[in-house]
Amino acid sequence: MPGQRLIVAITGATGAIYGVRLLQVLRDIPGVESHLMISDAGVLNLHQELDLGRKEVEALAHVVHNVRDIGASIASGSFQSDGMVIAPCSMKTLAAVAHGLSDNLVSRAADVVLKERRRLVLMVRETPFNLAHLRNMTAVTEMGGIIFPPLPGFYQRPKTIEEMVDHTVGRVLDLFAIPHALTPRWNGLKGGA
Ligand SMILES: Cc1cc2nc3c(=O)[nH]c(=O)nc-3n(C[C@H](O)[C@H](O)[C@H](O)COP(=O)(O)O)c2cc1C
Repeated sequence: MPGQRLIVAITGATGAIYGVRLLQVLRDIPGVESHLMISDAGVLNLHQELDLGRKEVEALAHVVHNVRDIGASIASGSFQSDGMVIAPCSMKTLAAVAHGLSDNLVSRAADVVLKERRRLVLMVRETPFNLAHLRNMTAVTEMGGIIFPPLPGFYQRPKTIEEMVDHTVGRVLDLFAIPHALTPRWNGLKGGA
């Protein structure tokens, strides 16, 4: 296994930019191997939000898997990885993970990461939430997964969407102890308390 190996899935919630930025950053870190899946709805949103096609985004990853290839390496616990990020994660994929459906390679790979007690980060996105969404987030948390909605912070005074995205992606990388310089570290309030 390389230094670190991360599985990334892009699903059909808005916020495709988070998945793309994550892949860009991982590509530039020596020793990190990214494995990518993009759902059909994820492809739609890449086009709608970023004018990007499937092939362009897949070119950012080291290894690409088809969402329907349930026999892929990442469908097995014997395939070693440091974990998985779903960026962004739709409520449909959240529900599939919460209920152990394993009905496609995204939810199967997430199921494997949970059963092997590896790190699973779901960048869930919907607003507002209904009770099913909230219960599914609770269920994933109870199983050890991390619910990480991509909510921007304003205390660093971001000036661009890219700065906001980098701040959030940096916090995700922190969860995997992957070093980065995407965002300044908080050093306390200006002028103190
Ligand atoms: C433009 C667009 C934006 C969407 N945004 C969201 C969203 O923010 N959250 C969500 O849960 N679903 C959203 N959806 C719906 C999902 O794409 C849909 O439920 C899909 O079946 C998810 O499948 P997947 O999880 O396999 O990608 C959106 C769909 C479109 C076309």
